[in-house]
Amino acid sequence: MIVANIADFREAARRRLPRFLFEYMDGGSYAEVTLRKNVAELSEIALRQRVLRDVSALDLSTELFGQKLALPVALAPIGLAGLNARRGECQAVRAAEAAGIPFTLSTVSACALDEVARAARRPLWFQLYMIRDRGFMRDLLAQAAAAQCSALVFTVDMPVPGSRYRDYRTGLAGAPGMKGALWRFAQAAMRPAWAWDVGLRGRPHALGNVAPVLQGRTGIEDFFAWMRNNFDPSIGWRDLDFIRSEWTGPLIIKGVLDPEDARRAAELGADGIVVSNHGGRQLDGVLSTARALPPIAEAVGDRLTVLADGGVRSGLDVVRLLALGAKGVLLGRAWAYALAARGEAGVRQMLGLIEAEMRVALSLTGVRSVAEIDRTILAEA
Ligand code: GLV
Repeated sequence: MIVANIADFREAARRRLPRFLFEYMDGGSYAEVTLRKNVAELSEIALRQRVLRDVSALDLSTELFGQKLALPVALAPIGLAGLNARRGECQAVRAAEAAGIPFTLSTVSACALDEVARAARRPLWFQLYMIRDRGFMRDLLAQAAAAQCSALVFTVDMPVPGSRYRDYRTGLAGAPGMKGALWRFAQAAMRPAWAWDVGLRGRPHALGNVAPVLQGRTGIEDFFAWMRNNFDPSIGWRDLDFIRSEWTGPLIIKGVLDPEDARRAAELGADGIVVSNHGGRQLDGVLSTARALPPIAEAVGDRLTVLADGGVRSGLDVVRLLALGAKGVLLGRAWAYALAARGEAGVRQMLGLIEAEMRVALSLTGVRSVAEIDRTILAEA
């Protein structure tokens, strides 16, 4: 199919992937109210058109955590997105590199950190959860340092996993043993192109960084059971000391949705935060990113670097989040859809779309650089 925008990539991904993988990536928790609001409330933010301002030379570059980026975006960590294409995270990191932006590798990626780091020439960002086994966390942090990862994204909004009904329906969660395996096998068999390219030729696959702690178990249900049982609900602010004692590079706290928590993160010396509701996958009913971001940016924007994610489906949405106070935007589902649809070429194309759309948005709001974007480009500033 011909792909013109991110919605088309989503449709192409839906046609290509086994249902359990598509629904895992596409879905949110409970009634998916926050998932929908992330998209809807962001897209409803009206831009202020300005004309006759000579926009012949635009500068979309920015600097985040001492790194020069061609665009004010990074690819967000997404668990298992590497299953969307053969050795998928390696393809995505190459696309990010070609576009001059960072790629963030999830703890629960399909490909392990050393493989993805080898596929890239520039350092990646690494995402970490609070895991009960501190020795395993130390080991991952040491691997991230050895791979010269240029930032650590510490995700704090998953002390417990949100319930995603779609995953129950597809057998990814809650249908253990043979029944779940057969159901997923049937779904994979209905997507022969994926089954051949990823399911067969992509092997060994699916366990990435957690393979050592799974002790020989290799099923996707083992992987999810590990996630359910090993994320640590005792996570607290004191754990930042632990992270800091093991990690000396830039530290970004992901999953902040409240100004008070943002202030605490700034007081404790975080270099950045990601204003995020985990793509509507955790507590359904919380504020959309577009609504949560402005008071947080106001509270701490001069003390640490505020990033944001959630609901971004175009370059216009990137510009909207920058106008609401973010210094950079994480793209999540957008790259996972594009990877499923067309591999590395798809992610490159998606980033090209984002850039082209940003150029139009800057030109017609009358600003020439990312640094100039602020609330004055919004119709209701
Ligand atoms: C993991 O972070 C997920 O949202 O499934």
